[in-house]
Amino acid sequence: MKRFSMGLLVAGLGLVGSHATAQDLDKAVKARQAVMQLYAFNLGTLGAMAKGQMDYDAAVAQAAAGNIVKVSSQNQMAYWPQGSAVGEVEGSKALPAVWENMEDVGAKAAALTEAAMQAEAATDLAGLQAAMGAMGGACGACHKSYRQSD
Ligand code: HEC
Repeated sequence: MKRFSMGLLVAGLGLVGSHATAQDLDKAVKARQAVMQLYAFNLGTLGAMAKGQMDYDAAVAQAAAGNIVKVSSQNQMAYWPQGSAVGEVEGSKALPAVWENMEDVGAKAAALTEAAMQAEAATDLAGLQAAMGAMGGACGACHKSYRQSD
């Protein structure tokens, strides 16, 4: 099953924000960072299992991967208003390139959903391990282009 809500993100980016207050922008940055924290928490569980630091448990792994599927297929358009790039809102590390390449940002989020669906479908440790590379790659590819590195 494919999920296309990122297309809505692409369509919606740029419409939001023209009349957003500074407080609205701050909340939007916090909301998208919360999304990222949910990705990181769930990926941490999967990574620990894949590396043998945590016992493999199919139900726990499928729950974590499924959470990444769900969170990444939200309609996220309101979390990325114009005017919320790094330097525009305190704490934001989103590069201005986000707003210049909205279709690609949407495609990279969709790639994460696809990779997480592979992980969710895995029923054993080998299957999870096989899916990890694509998921980590999906995070990294987007960060490389769109997140200011520390
Ligand atoms: C579609 C692009 C994209 C994808 C996919 C993506 N990220 Fe991010 N991520 C960003 C951007 C942009 C930021 C900076 C956001 C900001 O500071 O406003 C970020 C920030 C973060 C942060 C810092 C959050 C904070 O509290 O400041 C973490 C952690 C993170 N990402 C983890 C992940 C993980 C783990 C994945 C994959 C499971 C992932 N991200 C996938 C674009 C992405």
